[in-house]
Amino acid sequence: MSGHEAGRMPEIGEDHWEGAVAHQALEIEGEPYYLPLGDEVMAFEAAYQNRLPVMLKGPTGCGKTRFVRHMAHRLGRPLVSVACHDDLTASDLIGRFLIRGDETVWVDGPLTQAVRSGAICYLDEVVEARKDTTVVIHPLTDDRRRMRIDRTGEVLQAPPEFMLVISYNPGYQSLLKNLKQSTRQRFMALEFDFPPREAEVAIVIHETGLDRPTAERIVRIGELIRNLKDAGLEEPASTRLLVYAGLLVRGGLDLRRACELSIAAPISDDPAVLEALFALIATVA
Ligand SMILES: Nc1ncnc2c1ncn2[C@@H]1O[C@H](COP(=O)(O)OP(=O)(O)OP(=O)(O)O)[C@@H](O)[C@H]1O
Ligand SMILES: [Mg+2]
Repeated sequence: MSGHEAGRMPEIGEDHWEGAVAHQALEIEGEPYYLPLGDEVMAFEAAYQNRLPVMLKGPTGCGKTRFVRHMAHRLGRPLVSVACHDDLTASDLIGRFLIRGDETVWVDGPLTQAVRSGAICYLDEVVEARKDTTVVIHPLTDDRRRMRIDRTGEVLQAPPEFMLVISYNPGYQSLLKNLKQSTRQRFMALEFDFPPREAEVAIVIHETGLDRPTAERIVRIGELIRNLKDAGLEEPASTRLLVYAGLLVRGGLDLRRACELSIAAPISDDPAVLEALFALIATVA
């Protein structure tokens, strides 16, 4: 029932790299549920067949990560995910020498590991990473498909199965943090947005096991919030939050309280905005 499962393919999370412990491949059961909203599955497959890197654009909580997991499973490739942050450097991606006992050993970073194993490497919110990461990304994303490990002198040629996928939320764009054209223009881009009503209802039902009428009310609340203009919301309520509301209802909360806690409260700290959101929820729940 729950969609929180992942594909059968090994998946390597960023946690395995933080603290520089050896990476572990996790074998997880089941196909990650993803409801296609357009031709994104076909487009991603075409990119994969032609060794094109892919950029997923869209607001938070609209299915980008779920889509990559689904596609990794579909294509039968392992997935290496890296959550980029403002301290993430090129060597965090490539790897580093570590002292183990009296030995100094080279430990591959997640990107190197993905290149070696022909995995799909997902750099989440890539624009957050330090600028020096572009030096690694560029030669891997043009027709060279090469990666140079300066510290060891090794040059890796990416196998055809290797694929680089980045995500990017244009809503967070700032002058300081924007993807350079020379980086953008190395990727084909798939745009993600909140699903249309029927699809979102289906997603909420699938992810929570709720009955249809309740799922429809939750989605209606999401729509109303998204339609609020000038409400001072940085980003509208995501599909993720609608799923949370459904899970709280499944956990025994009444619909109104569930929506207040999971759809309204997380998206704003402004008391006036919250009051307006609560009032809006009360019209439906
Ligand atoms: N098309 C879809 N099919 C199935 N589930 C979806 C879909 N879109 C959204 N979801 C649901 O929304 C949740 C959030 O999606 P996901 O984690 O993929 O968001 P995201 O776009 O990666 O967000 P962020 O940018 O914050 O990482 C998923 O766990 C899933 O329950
Ligand atoms: Mg994500």
